[in-house]
Parts: sequence; C-alpha cells; structure tokens
Amino acid sequence: MLELFRNPKNLGRMDDANATATAGSLACGDMIAIYLKIDEKTQVIEKAQFESYGCAANIAAASLLTEMVKGKPLEEAWKISWVDISEELGGLPPIKYHCGVLAVGALRRAIRAYFKNREKPDWLPEGPTPEEKHALEEEKLMEMLARRYKIQVGKRG
Ligand code: FES
Repeated sequence: MLELFRNPKNLGRMDDANATATAGSLACGDMIAIYLKIDEKTQVIEKAQFESYGCAANIAAASLLTEMVKGKPLEEAWKISWVDISEELGGLPPIKYHCGVLAVGALRRAIRAYFKNREKPDWLPEGPTPEEKHALEEEKLMEMLARRYKIQVGKRG
C-alpha cells in the first residue's frame, strides 16, 4: 500500500474524460475526483484517473481502483466493492475503511454520471448504493466547510 502511495498510478486530471465525479467524506473532510474515458460503443473503460485530496489510504485505494477498472466493461467496474479494494491493499484497518469507500463511491458516481443522459442499463440500481451514500456530495461538503469558515470569520469579527 505504501508503494502505491509513494508512486501512485493514474494520478492527475484527464482532459478527454467523458465521465467524471467528485466525492467528499464528511467523516474526514477529504475529497476525491475520478475521471473516466469510456468507449461509447463497447462501454469499456479505456482510461481511468483520479485526483485525491485525501490520506495515504485514499490515494492507494484510488490508484488501485483506477488500475483495476482499466479495460473493464462498466458493469464489471460497478461491481468492485470497497471490500475488494481493502483486500487487494492487504486489509485496510477499520479506521481507514471510509477511505476505500470514498474511492468506490466516487467511481460509482462517475458511472452514474455517464448514464445521466444515456439509456440506463438493467444492472444500474435505481437508488444510491451504500458506497455512494457514504461518498457524500461535494456540494454538501463545501457547504459545511463554508459554514465552518463563516463561523470562524464571525468569531474573528
Ligand atoms: Fe479521509 Fe482517508 S482519512 S480519505
């Protein structure tokens, strides 16, 4: 896991992505963005990249996840769970579970974003999965940070 943190794969923004999503965790205040380049005809993920403002475990999880989904059809990528990621990383400690959940949640949000204006496949659940619920919307996180900031400003003033 440390190796993936020191030399993360697929790190950085992707300019030609056709599906992107961000996710933030209220548990720790960290954020992640996932970029996917999906083949329109085959719905296979050609490229996957990420940006993480999270901890070492989150960077390692996102790095591994983006490696795992490359070359996979969206349906298979959707099925990867945070438990799979944790196992691949040698077992995340319980306090770090949410870091893997955040990476998987962001990926699922990116896959959902891809189908926003396209015909939805049968395998895509209607309601959000636990991973997606956990990866709270960035906007909510920003609101919370803004509120915090205002409180601080208020105290100062
Ligand atoms: Fe926030 Fe790991 S502690 S993503």
